[in-house]
Amino acid sequence: MTVTVVGSIHVDFYIKVDRFPLVGETIMGRGFHISPGGKGANQAVGCGKLGEKTFIVGRIGEDFSEYILNNFRNAGVKTDFVKIDVEHNTGVAFVILNTVTGQNMIIIDPGADYWITQKDVDDALEAILDSQVILLQLEIPIKINLYVAQLAYSKGKTVILNPAPAADLPQEIFRYINIITPNRVEASQLTGIEVRDLDTAIKAGRKLIEKGVAYSIITLGSHGSILVTPDKSLYYPSFKVDVVDTTGAGDAFNAGLTVALSQGYSIEEAVKWGNACAALKITRIGAQSGLPNKHELEEFMEKHKDYRVKSL
Ligand code: RIB
Repeated sequence: MTVTVVGSIHVDFYIKVDRFPLVGETIMGRGFHISPGGKGANQAVGCGKLGEKTFIVGRIGEDFSEYILNNFRNAGVKTDFVKIDVEHNTGVAFVILNTVTGQNMIIIDPGADYWITQKDVDDALEAILDSQVILLQLEIPIKINLYVAQLAYSKGKTVILNPAPAADLPQEIFRYINIITPNRVEASQLTGIEVRDLDTAIKAGRKLIEKGVAYSIITLGSHGSILVTPDKSLYYPSFKVDVVDTTGAGDAFNAGLTVALSQGYSIEEAVKWGNACAALKITRIGAQSGLPNKHELEEFMEKHKDYRVKSL
């Protein structure tokens, strides 16, 4: 089966610290490295590593083009619809990773991400038509996401929107989304309901369904996630693991969810795959190098076969 990810492609500049600096303060780092990133790219690599036929649609600059294209190819991601934009730099992210807590702070300059056009999407129609699932995030212009969602939905595809980073969305996009996957902050911003516990997460999930999506999944970090459907809510506790780096945990979740759906699993089962991929990712450093492959995911799921979902 096939999936297409339309979205951002970055180079991540990681600096490790043992605490975050205060405003105006200079502190010493504990190591630096460069690695491929961007929510769109991470999610595509996540799907590719799980063995799914995966297309990425997006823009990069000339500056890091070989590095990025090789990285996609190594993960089995098809790059036919990545355009090289000679006028703009590749999107970059500065990731400050707190090695004590595994938490991060990220600043992005979107560069070429922001110059993706409707024509780029039309040129990738073949990939979209070949796919069961289309996966979107919010690091490219919202009007392009709306265009893709409308197009893919009209062709009967399952459209997943991971609304990250948090942004306001036009009302009309919701009806073209089958599944929305906000975290706590994004769900609060999209619904006006402050998500602080399971009850408020369910309320926010229902509000997103009222807005037009078929299913909402609110991810709650170390507290797991909640699936809200028109007739029920299910709670998925998190897997207990040692946290090393939370960067890209949401991307890992969306990749696992997408691949499971593309392979015909139910949404109830697919959320488990998402949770498991996120758990594996946070035990390792790097938004992409930490993503699990198919074998690691299967092994992890086997080890946790007693995992239980709770009805709320
Ligand atoms: O979700 C993690 C990603 O967010 C990083 O790879 C960074 O590039 C930013 O887009």
